[in-house]
Amino acid sequence: MGSLQLKSVRKSFGPVDVLKGIDLDVKDGEFVIFVGPSGCGKSTLLRIIAGLEDATSGNILIDGGEVSAVPPAKRGIAMVFQSYALYPHLSVKDNMGLGLKQAGAPKAQIEERTKKASSMLSLEKYLERRPAELSGGQRQRVAIGRAIVREPKLFLFDEPLSNLDAALRVNTRLEIARLHRELKATMIYVTHDQVEAMTLADKIVVLDGGVIQQVGSPMELYNRPANLFVAGFIGSPAMNFIEAARLGRSDATTIGIRPEHMTLSRESGEWKGRIVHVEHLGADTIVYLDSEKAGLLTARLFGEHHYEPDEIVHATPNASQLHRFGVDGNVIQ
Ligand SMILES: Nc1ncnc2c1ncn2[C@@H]1O[C@H](COP(=O)(O)OP(=O)(O)OP(=O)(O)O)[C@@H](O)[C@H]1O
Ligand SMILES: [Mg+2]
Repeated sequence: MGSLQLKSVRKSFGPVDVLKGIDLDVKDGEFVIFVGPSGCGKSTLLRIIAGLEDATSGNILIDGGEVSAVPPAKRGIAMVFQSYALYPHLSVKDNMGLGLKQAGAPKAQIEERTKKASSMLSLEKYLERRPAELSGGQRQRVAIGRAIVREPKLFLFDEPLSNLDAALRVNTRLEIARLHRELKATMIYVTHDQVEAMTLADKIVVLDGGVIQQVGSPMELYNRPANLFVAGFIGSPAMNFIEAARLGRSDATTIGIRPEHMTLSRESGEWKGRIVHVEHLGADTIVYLDSEKAGLLTARLFGEHHYEPDEIVHATPNASQLHRFGVDGNVIQ
């Protein structure tokens, strides 16, 4: 079991209110991802859940029981940090087993769990090595292994892959997805990487300004963002925002359209503009254009397209993919 409930969790550092009342339900076995701009309080919230930091007020319940007074080691939580924090003088095996050893677990149990975790993470060959003799990706796997051997109810990951290069990130991401399936454990994971968030999460929590802006599945956030912040934060390149009045519309204050939901044509279309820049990504072509009616726009076209700066083109939004936002920034359904 590993459900988590946060009720009106607040945190202030002196006069600064970092978390302004967080309410969240995480079901047993769920994979929940926290995203939000730097400094919005993601790590602080993880540390409060782990017990490494006290909330200023509010309740934290694990499996229905209040844990605010329970010390970190007794919460059944394992946290994996961005800096792997391995002991340099200990072997991989001893690094992985240390938590259990300190908790007084029998030797045979430590052996068995270390063996199981190392096989899940393909670390069997490295058990006798020291961290200095490993690659960054292998070290990160050891840090994850150290969490697994403790068989926690709840895993907390704070940007665990951000030190890895692009290829390793993809591999480790797939491993984490597989681990989640195998362990069926509850996981809460902080990342700045959109692809990680979209591909790993059952549920994404978008934080900004000390409050939760929206909670939903990746596709809910992509298809039905609740407000301008979420609309602009989820999706890359970001959604285009156009002042509704410029388009002669009175049914909204801002109109949003994602770059991938526009087509371009040299002949005709809704918004005529001049191309300012083109990015050829191979699989996609990103075209930036300055249009008279809608202002600066980004269009994302599938495949290779031979547009050039200064060319005149016409952008046409897919009408069924327009988002409308009111003066308060909230979506108009
Ligand atoms: N011990 C502390 N004392 C005072 N302020 C703190 C302390 N720890 C964090 N803060 C502040 O709280 C805010 C939230 O910090 P936090 O580390 O939770 O952000 P974050 O969302 O994890 O950011 P990042 O994405 O950059 O890791 C920041 O403005 C930070 O400066
Ligand atoms: Mg952080």
